[in-house]
Amino acid sequence: MARYSDDVLNEVRNSVDLVELASAYVRLKRSGRSYMGCCPFHKEKTPSFHIDADKQLYHCFGCGAGGSVFQFVMAAEGLDFPDAVKFVAERGGVRLPELGDDSEEIYRRKREMYAMNKAAARYFRDCLFSPEGEAARAYLQRRQLTSRTVASFGLGYAPGSWDGLLRHLEGKGFPKDMMAETGLCIRNEKGHMYDRFRDRVMFPIFDVRQNIIGFGGRIMEGDGAKYMNSPESIIYDKGKNLFALNIARKSKRGYYVLVEGYMDVISLHQAGIDCAVAGCGTALTEAQARLIAKGGTVYLCYDMDEAGQKALARASSIFNGLDAKLKVISIPDGKDADEFIKKYGGAKFEELLDGSSSVAENDVNRLLEKYDTSDVSQTVELLNEAAPMLASIGNAIEREAYIKKLSASTGISVQAITAEVNKAGRREGRRQMREQVIKSVSQSRPSRSPTAKSRRESAEAKLLGILTEDREVYDKIRDNLTPELFSEGLNRDIFTEIQECYKDGEPSAEQYLLSRFERREEELAAVIIKSDNPDNGLAAAEDYINVIRNEDLKERIAEAEKNGDTVLLAQLIKNKHRKAGT
Ligand code: GTP
Ligand code: MN
Repeated sequence: MARYSDDVLNEVRNSVDLVELASAYVRLKRSGRSYMGCCPFHKEKTPSFHIDADKQLYHCFGCGAGGSVFQFVMAAEGLDFPDAVKFVAERGGVRLPELGDDSEEIYRRKREMYAMNKAAARYFRDCLFSPEGEAARAYLQRRQLTSRTVASFGLGYAPGSWDGLLRHLEGKGFPKDMMAETGLCIRNEKGHMYDRFRDRVMFPIFDVRQNIIGFGGRIMEGDGAKYMNSPESIIYDKGKNLFALNIARKSKRGYYVLVEGYMDVISLHQAGIDCAVAGCGTALTEAQARLIAKGGTVYLCYDMDEAGQKALARASSIFNGLDAKLKVISIPDGKDADEFIKKYGGAKFEELLDGSSSVAENDVNRLLEKYDTSDVSQTVELLNEAAPMLASIGNAIEREAYIKKLSASTGISVQAITAEVNKAGRREGRRQMREQVIKSVSQSRPSRSPTAKSRRESAEAKLLGILTEDREVYDKIRDNLTPELFSEGLNRDIFTEIQECYKDGEPSAEQYLLSRFERREEELAAVIIKSDNPDNGLAAAEDYINVIRNEDLKERIAEAEKNGDTVLLAQLIKNKHRKAGT
C-alpha cells in the first residue's frame, strides 16, 4: 500500500485550518480554545461536535466521528483517503509529489483515465459539430438547449460507427485496456473491441474536481435503452457522485434541488436554477445525500408517478439521519422538471420552490389522493398506512396538525388516530432500539460510545490530552508517568509516542501524534480531544493520575477478590488506605 510520506501529510495538514474548513459545513461557536457545533455527520439538536483548534482535531461526542482534517474531508465530501489528501492539498495550495510505489501506479492510471475521458469528450463534441452530428444538433435544439448550455455541460455526440472513438483514442496513444476499463469500449468474448456509445447524445459526468469520470448517452430515436451509462471503474463510483455537483457547488443559492434526470438538471440550470443535481442513473445513496446535506435545504423533485414517489420516500429516509431541511416539490400534471420548465418557464419553477411542502404534507396529500374516504375499508387502509408515517414526524405540532387534517377528511376521531400513531411510534422505537443494540454489539468499538467510557478511560484520555499539548506539564510530572499507568492498547501507545516525541525536544506532541497515528486519527481524536480545557494543566494532570491509580487499584482488588487471592487482597487494601491517608 503506497502512501504519502509523513512530511508530505504534515505539510498538507498544516496548509489549512480545520476550523475554517469545517465552518463551511457546520456552524461553529467558539468556547475557549475549542469550537462547538451540531455534528454534520449525524442528526442532533444540541451541539456535541468539537474542534480543538490547537490540536487541529475534531470529535463528536454524540456519534464518535472524529479525526484530523483528512477524516473530516473524507466524511464530508465522501472521498477516500488519497482523494481527501488531494482535496486538502488543493485548498492549501500544496503541490503533491507523485507517490512512490504501487499506489503511485493507481494515481497515474487514474490521471491517464481522466485524460482519456477528456479526449473522448472532445471527440464527442467535435462530432456533434461535424456533418455527422446534424441529427443530434437538431435533437438538442428540439429539447430547447441553447448553444451556451450545450457548451457548459460539454455535451457531444457519439456517431453510429463501431470503432470511431476507439480509433481516435488509439491514435492519441491511449491503451485499449484502459478503454475497456472505463467502459468507453467493450471487449466481446472473442476479444474484439468496439465503442459502447453509438449514435447517442453524450453527457459527460464530472466530479467536483472537474475530472470527467464517466458518460451518459441518450438515444435520440428508435429502440434500445433510453440511456446508456459508463460502468463503474476506479475513477467512477456512482454512489459517491452527483451529476452537475461540480457546477451546483458554486451556486449562490445556498440550497440544492435534487431531481431524477440529466435533462432535468440541464433545463434547470439553463433556467438559472444552478443548484440542481441528479444521481447517476442509480438510486440515491447516503454518500450522495451527504454531499448536499450540509445543514442547508434540499428540495426533492421526483416524478409524481408511483416509482417516483417510492424513490422520494427512500430519499427522504436517507436524508432523515443527516443534517438537512427537506422540502418536496410536486410538479403539476405529472410532468418532470424539464417538461415543466419548457412549458411554463423558470420563473414558474421558482414559484414551485416557494410553494414546496414538507415531506409529511406531501405524504398526507398523496394518501388522500390514493384512497377514497367515502369508502370505509379504504379509510381504514389509509389510516393504517398513515400511522407509521405520522409517528415519524419529529415535531409534535406538525404531527398533531396532520392528525387533525386526516381526522377532518376521514371523519375518524383525533383520539383514535392518535392512539394508532402512538402505537406505531412505539413499534418503531422498539425496532430502532433493537437495531441500536445489534449495532453497538457488532461494532464493539468502545470509543464510539462516550457514555460507556469508564472513569479510568476518561481520566486517561484527559491526561493524554494535556500531555499532548503541554510539554511543560509533562516535564514536571514525568517521574510519575510510566506506560503501565495507561490501559494497554491505544492509550498506552499514545503515551509511548508522546514520550518519544518529547525526547526530541518538541514543545508539543500534536503533529507528531498525527503522523504516528495516520489512518487511526479517528481513534486518536476520540482519546485526546478533551471536552474541558482546565486552566491549570498541571493540577488537573495530577488529579487525573490519582483517579487512574485509584481506579487501577480498585480493578486489582476486584480481580484478587475474584481469584480468592487473600494475600494479595490484604496487601492491596493496605495500599489503598495508605493512599487515602496521604
Ligand atoms: P429525458 O427523457 O430525455 O427527458 O431524460 P430524463 O433525464 O428526464 O430521464 P428519465 O427521467 O427518464 O430518467 C431519469 C434518469 O434515469 C436518467 O437521467 C438516467 O440517469 C436514468 N435512466 C433513464 N433511463 C435509463 C435507461 O434506460 N438505462 C439506464 N441505465 N438509466 C436510465
Ligand atoms: Mn425528462
